[in-house]
Amino acid sequence: MLNIVIFGAPGSGKGTQSERIVEKYGINHISTGDVLRAEIKNGTELGKTAKGYIDQGQLIPDELMIDILASVFDSFKDSKGVIFDGFPRTIAQAEALKKMLAERGQDVSVMVDLDVPEEELMVRLIKRGKDSGRADDNEETIKKRLHVYHSQTAPLIDWYKNEEKYQHINGLGTMEGIFAEICEAVDKL
Ligand code: AP5
Repeated sequence: MLNIVIFGAPGSGKGTQSERIVEKYGINHISTGDVLRAEIKNGTELGKTAKGYIDQGQLIPDELMIDILASVFDSFKDSKGVIFDGFPRTIAQAEALKKMLAERGQDVSVMVDLDVPEEELMVRLIKRGKDSGRADDNEETIKKRLHVYHSQTAPLIDWYKNEEKYQHINGLGTMEGIFAEICEAVDKL
């Protein structure tokens, strides 16, 4: 099983690179942000709860996210592996992911950290907000998301270094160049 955690700040290119990885390695993709946006679009109870947090740039509570993750993961049959995009975002989520995979005889193969300077993140997200109208891509909410990233999510870098799963990737450059760097790391596994 090839289980990849794709990691990085908002706008670092997790979704962009996940699409390419899925195509090349034939693994499944779980984007927790996409799962939540689909729930919001469908007007479900979960969607209503999630919207309150997302619009404020805050994280959805761990217990809720961990349940969602496990149920999407178990919906894949005959999977060659999964790319986890947007999960884990807290130490509690990383521990839960490790436990969930261990219970299924699996582990995280690698954590790929897309490292992008903050000024570039802001430029990308403001542009995407203008193009797509994504509700949380406005300057005020982006600042909150970046703050949450630094305080709650970035500590996972040391957590995965400790697990010896950490792979740094320069997330600045062409999408193809970054993808090539990721493939080089994955192919070494
Ligand atoms: P989520 O959807 O995961 O948002 P995010 O982490 O803020 O990430 P983005 O989707 O904004 O960016 P990305 O890194 O995927 O970059 P992308 O490829 O799109 O989560 C949204 C919200 O849901 C969270 O704030 C939270 O509330 C909630 N949530 C989700 N998961 C959760 C969890 N586990 N726990 C709790 N809450 C959770 O690229 C961005 C832009 O840049 C695009 O326009 C793209 O075209 C462009 N771009 C990409 N690569 C390049 C490049 N190399 N050069 C130039 N432009 C580029």
